[in-house]
Amino acid sequence: MSAGWICDVCGAGYPVVGDVPWLLREPQDAIAEWRARLALLTRQLGDDASRADRELARLTDQSALPDRTVQRLQHLSEANRKQVALLENLLRPLVLPGVLASVQRGLGTSLPIEQGLTNYYVNLHRDWAWGGEENDATFTEVRAVLGSQAQLGRTLILGAGAGRLAYDIHEGYAPPLTVLTDYNPLLLFVAREMFAGRDLQLYEFPVAPRGLLDSAVLRRLSAPRAARGGYHIVAADALDAPFAPGSFDTVVTPWLIDVVGEPLAPFAARVNHWLKPRGRWINTGSLAFNRAPFAERLSLDETLQIVTASGFAPPDLREATIPYMRSPASRHGRLETVVSWSAIKREAATYPAARRVPQWLTNDSVPVPRTAALEFESVSSRVHAFMLALVNGERSVRDMARLIAEQRLLPADEAEAAVRRFLRRAFEASEQRDQY
Ligand SMILES: C[S@@+](CC[C@H](N)C(=O)[O-])C[C@H]1O[C@@H](n2cnc3c(N)ncnc32)[C@H](O)[C@@H]1O
Repeated sequence: MSAGWICDVCGAGYPVVGDVPWLLREPQDAIAEWRARLALLTRQLGDDASRADRELARLTDQSALPDRTVQRLQHLSEANRKQVALLENLLRPLVLPGVLASVQRGLGTSLPIEQGLTNYYVNLHRDWAWGGEENDATFTEVRAVLGSQAQLGRTLILGAGAGRLAYDIHEGYAPPLTVLTDYNPLLLFVAREMFAGRDLQLYEFPVAPRGLLDSAVLRRLSAPRAARGGYHIVAADALDAPFAPGSFDTVVTPWLIDVVGEPLAPFAARVNHWLKPRGRWINTGSLAFNRAPFAERLSLDETLQIVTASGFAPPDLREATIPYMRSPASRHGRLETVVSWSAIKREAATYPAARRVPQWLTNDSVPVPRTAALEFESVSSRVHAFMLALVNGERSVRDMARLIAEQRLLPADEAEAAVRRFLRRAFEASEQRDQY
């Protein structure tokens, strides 16, 4: 981590991690969280490799494995182990020393699960390995709403991911400044390497492998050439990016508005805020608001109504059905009908207030209130810890239930079912692969 950036206006300091400035309100917390996620992910990959080895050993003992399955399991195990080294090399500034990684694993239950390091992992292979057709299709949509002669001026790309569309815009339209932002360091670091013209290797793990060895495919990622100068790659939260009002002539939101984590109306007001008067909002991607509350699962008509109500002129609009995530190594892939627009800012919108965080989270010396939610967490963690402490490799469900009843934690007639339920959940959780 280098010394970092200082804001001229407010004096806030921002660390630089792996050459990427971390322009977040609580950068150290965010970095600690991504470090923990990386530790969990590499541990998970190692565990998966060991699990494949154990399955191989067990089934080989029973002479129950066809040659091809042996080959596939060996390949998967080796790929998982190599992927740990490749990821740790790419994300070196985020790698935790061994002991800390174990502690983080213990604390890891509290990590929010919506955005993990491997969310959008396929995107980076699409962007820089096999996705020529898809990348061209998206850039074609952007060109269609922009026109090929457009002057973009200072350009901000929010949720840029691994950066292919940003690269195509930067190279194709030659804006004097392109700022790529995202908050996922894996994607940002891949973008950094690609823009610099360096190659990378990472494994892709297709969800529905096409051939025997397609369960893990070592991909070489590369850009056609190093990008010209005039770009910056920064970590920032699109809901709280620290740019002054009117900083940009163009803001691009590629495949972002339906996953960004807030309703479109306030998000459109943020885009408006970062744009100069007569600046341009380019959007492209899906309208898949399916995880939002019902009122926010917008149709195209409602979406456009919000755009114009947020200080933009009625947009130039296109709809097109394009291929999406069709990895050649996977049987999985789809078509998406995407919506693209170019909308000119005609009046200012009110910038939404930042998300309110309680004082006891921002000021380390303020007492933490014992809220009902924390009380509940505390009781359930104590029960959890008590149950786990009972597991000593000798006691049965009945033995444990008897001890729980003796401690008067539960009535005797409920204890057995409760212990069984608890252990079943723990067993099922151990069978599932989490997303980090
Ligand atoms: C569907 S992906 C699209 C990525 C890329 N634009 C593309 O077209 O491949 C959404 C991207 O937005 C990023 N993202 C989502 N919410 C964000 C937020 N609040 N701040 C910054 N990035 C965000 C994710 O990390 C992810 O890279």
